[in-house]
Amino acid sequence: MLTLNIKDLSPVQIQSYLNHAVAPRPICLASTIDKNGNVNLSPFSFFNVFSVNPPVCVFSPSRRVRDNTTKHTLGNIQQVPECVINIVSYDMVQQVSLSSVEYPLGVNEFIKSGLTELPSEMVKPPRVAEAPVQFECVVNDIISLGNTPGAGNLIIAEIKLIHIKEDILNAAGLIDQEKINLVARLGGDWYCRVTGDNLFKVAKPVSTIGIGVDAIPLSIRNSKVLTGNNLGQLGNVEVLPTDDAIETYAQTDEIKDLFDATIADSQTRELQLHLKAKQLLDAGLVNDAWKVLLM
Ligand SMILES: Cc1cc2nc3c(=O)[nH]c(=O)nc-3n(C[C@H](O)[C@H](O)[C@H](O)COP(=O)(O)O)c2cc1C
Repeated sequence: MLTLNIKDLSPVQIQSYLNHAVAPRPICLASTIDKNGNVNLSPFSFFNVFSVNPPVCVFSPSRRVRDNTTKHTLGNIQQVPECVINIVSYDMVQQVSLSSVEYPLGVNEFIKSGLTELPSEMVKPPRVAEAPVQFECVVNDIISLGNTPGAGNLIIAEIKLIHIKEDILNAAGLIDQEKINLVARLGGDWYCRVTGDNLFKVAKPVSTIGIGVDAIPLSIRNSKVLTGNNLGQLGNVEVLPTDDAIETYAQTDEIKDLFDATIADSQTRELQLHLKAKQLLDAGLVNDAWKVLLM
């Protein structure tokens, strides 16, 4: 394993390692305004939501690594402590990238990127009409993380108003994760797109307490077939299947055939049972997998 001491790395190297490893990152397209009414628009992927009640997002315009200057977004927020956080979808990602160009102070990146200004209702900076979700925010605090090139400045932005395009809502009026068409930033020039075929679900740990991987019998835990993800699924159950349930499952044709085919070979039988359990786990059938493993 490569082990790196921060004191031996340049800011550019640190940035590369961090941005490739802490990825994908959501993108905040922040619009801000200075005290003279000049609008600015810039993307930030050092961004996330950190509180629900009150609803608070944080993003970080860093000091430029190149010359240690600070970004216009930060200057604007110091003058007018408000912003709109616009969520970025795939359809706008190229224009968002264009809005990140280091245009001179006072240049409105809405105009440069061709994105559309939409007046806000509670704050002065405009929204981005193309963004599927727009948060009107007041800035409660700015926390400087240092004075050296690359140092972040945390913008603590409390959401006051949420706007959501109706075409990304489901029948219940909630955001449909497949429809919002999100993109995220990774290292270098890499981005990724959230599409239906790369979405998957992980069952939330049960409302009481899962048995844990440590409670799984060693012969299963040390399986050559089952992966860490599979063990996580198995450890997430509250109770193991009853003997009756196992016996009933053992009477299915597939399992009877498996036992017949491995009658004199316990090692092959265990391997085949683990392969069958893995197949069931990969299909989300955790209880059936447990039955197979406990036969
Ligand atoms: C997708 C994307 C994400 C970015 N994330 C950040 C970030 O988190 N922090 C940062 O300082 N710069 C980030 N940048 C670069 C800024 O957007 C860029 O420096 C911009 O010109 C700053 O504009 P301003 O000086 O008008 O505020 C990002 C650029 C892109 C394209």
